[in-house]
Amino acid sequence: MGIYYNAEHRVFHLQGPNTSYVIQLNKNGVPMHAYWGRKVSDAPWDGMLDFIERSSFSPNPYPEDRTISFDTLPQEYPAYGTSDFRHPAYQVQLADGSTITELAYVEHRIVNGKPKLSGLPSTYTEKDEEAQTLELVLQDEKSGMCVVLSYSVFTDHDAIVRSVKLINQGGTTLRLLRALSGSVDFRHDQFHFLQLSGAWARERDLYRRQVVPGIQSVESRRGSSSHQQNPFIALVSPNADEENGEAYGFSLVYSGSFVAQAEVDQFRTTRVSVGINPFDFEWRLEPGEEFQTPELVMVYSDEGLGGMSRSYHRLYRSRLCRGTYRDRTRPVLVNNWEATYFQFNADKIENIAKVGQELGIELFVLDDGWFGHRDSDDSSLGDWKVDYRKLPGGLADLASRVNRLDMQFGLWFEPEMVSPDSELYRAHPDWCLHVEGRRRTEARQQLILDLSREDVCDYLIESVSSVLRSAPITYVKWDMNRNMTEIGSALLPSQRQRETAHRYMLGLYRVLETITSEFPDILFESCSGGGGRFDPGMLYYMPQTWTSDNTDAVSRLRIQYGTSMVYPVSAMGAHVSAVPNHQVHRMTSLKTRGDVAMSGNFGYELDLTQMTDEEKAQVKDQVEQYKDIRHLVQFGDFYRLRSPFEGNDTAWIMVAADRSEAFAVYIRVLAEPNAPLDWLKFRGLDASARYRVEGSGAVYGGDQLMYAGVPIPRLHGDYQSHVWRLVRV
Ligand code: DGJ
Repeated sequence: MGIYYNAEHRVFHLQGPNTSYVIQLNKNGVPMHAYWGRKVSDAPWDGMLDFIERSSFSPNPYPEDRTISFDTLPQEYPAYGTSDFRHPAYQVQLADGSTITELAYVEHRIVNGKPKLSGLPSTYTEKDEEAQTLELVLQDEKSGMCVVLSYSVFTDHDAIVRSVKLINQGGTTLRLLRALSGSVDFRHDQFHFLQLSGAWARERDLYRRQVVPGIQSVESRRGSSSHQQNPFIALVSPNADEENGEAYGFSLVYSGSFVAQAEVDQFRTTRVSVGINPFDFEWRLEPGEEFQTPELVMVYSDEGLGGMSRSYHRLYRSRLCRGTYRDRTRPVLVNNWEATYFQFNADKIENIAKVGQELGIELFVLDDGWFGHRDSDDSSLGDWKVDYRKLPGGLADLASRVNRLDMQFGLWFEPEMVSPDSELYRAHPDWCLHVEGRRRTEARQQLILDLSREDVCDYLIESVSSVLRSAPITYVKWDMNRNMTEIGSALLPSQRQRETAHRYMLGLYRVLETITSEFPDILFESCSGGGGRFDPGMLYYMPQTWTSDNTDAVSRLRIQYGTSMVYPVSAMGAHVSAVPNHQVHRMTSLKTRGDVAMSGNFGYELDLTQMTDEEKAQVKDQVEQYKDIRHLVQFGDFYRLRSPFEGNDTAWIMVAADRSEAFAVYIRVLAEPNAPLDWLKFRGLDASARYRVEGSGAVYGGDQLMYAGVPIPRLHGDYQSHVWRLVRV
């Protein structure tokens, strides 16, 4: 493992545990993409790239060599305007108005470890020996623009992690019109394109289609990574399934507008481009200034989608998420949102918490409505002062009442927003994103604070921190319930207005860095109307995300299955809520709701005081069962077994890293008359070990469980589930 440079052939070979990524400099110093895939030995790689002369429609930048056209050359960071007609990785406008630049090699550095990205979330190392980083320094001689391409490989993770720094070393202003995080040129187009798309309450449906000539793309123009498209795509071989075939994943560590696309060209090669969405983006680089792109995490697996996902899970769980809770199991919680909405008082909260404590729940979370005069969603965002009408003793009193029950206390915020009906807005009407003289479009009667401004960020840090200091709060749900419109900032000059959305993200990241550093022991959960910002950028600051506002057990199968393509189950919040379900009005059993929610950070989101004794007894058992398996949710390997996108049932299994135990979940959606018998084959177990199935006491070989499978019990009725707890004997 490591990064090797072959000076004779000017080849960089980046080796992970099972992956190789190879770059070669051409004779003019243009970094060419030579290979990415299964690990190869450290060959010199000379002659592996093939050059042939094409027609005059692929022009030749070097008159002496007609076999080279940028239109056909596989490149690492392609430019526009000098014969490559595909989408470039970057575009810069120079002082003379032109947009032509040509990057060529200047020098490179290979360093141990992984340098931090300034101001942006990223994967990291704890010790230098965990990774190596190649910094390839390129320059456009005419403009003085310098570009540093960074590539890191890890000792224990199969990922190529890329980012780019653009530095203005010239004497005039440069306008960045496009600055993507990475571009990869594949030699062929034999791929399926995978994306995670949806909407509020049905996030991350999995779509798969064959790539065709032209562009296939997902993007967000919402100022947020979005419910609609996740900042992730994968190219997989047409035969790839959960265990077999090649999968190339691209996951952007960013929470704002992005683009991720695959372009198939005339010669059936495929270019993947990922980064900040160039749409409505521009960044001025004055002499001496630099621009850092977000990080792109690329994973290759020849063990199908499952292998790709598990590489992401392990990396994100251990070297993207941070803080005390990275390595700790999470408390079982009860949240009052669907129990009370805005109508609650301290006694009501204490009563819910009391029942929760009796049932083994460890954390009470007070959701929206505790501040200002917020009796509905039309006021008070921005006024983070307790509403004494509802909580006469304040937060400290309520928290201590909850603590006296031997439960922790958590709190909801929506810090990035302001209600027009708020003291904050009346005092600072210019503190929201807006364009002078234009309407201010509201969503849920709220506007977005302008986090591109330092003073607004400072206010946010102080107002949230002072609440956190005021009471023993051990959990925060950080919500964000709308997307950006009229994106403009009162403080930026006209020529920098198109920087607002990215400056907002930089401001948000600073706020999160400051607050999470001051309160390292608080468990932060991010939320954006559920999973509207379920992205690696947010996970860097908050190790878990509220997966969806849709808590219906059947809808959750698709949502959690799709989310697991990239994100570990330890990052997903999953709660049991009341029936009929508040989002889809479906009736499902408490057992099925519990079995689905247990594959995530488990909790309840209903009025426990309204439950019958029988239901409470069942909840108590569920909580106990979850405590028995939650280390598998937190630290285990996740294997998908059956897909809700392909059939009537869903199954997955979480297996301990040492394969000594596992927890498998099966859900069948609709009952089938006179149904055939069915066996479920597990994955990830130790084939040579024997496992006891808790409850039944039966003992099977790991090989039997994986290759022959276990009979699925006869289930009666719709929306039924079954779980297996396996322990090695
Ligand atoms: C949206 C969140 O996703 C919900 O869980 C809840 O916190 C509401 N906001 C509160 O307004």
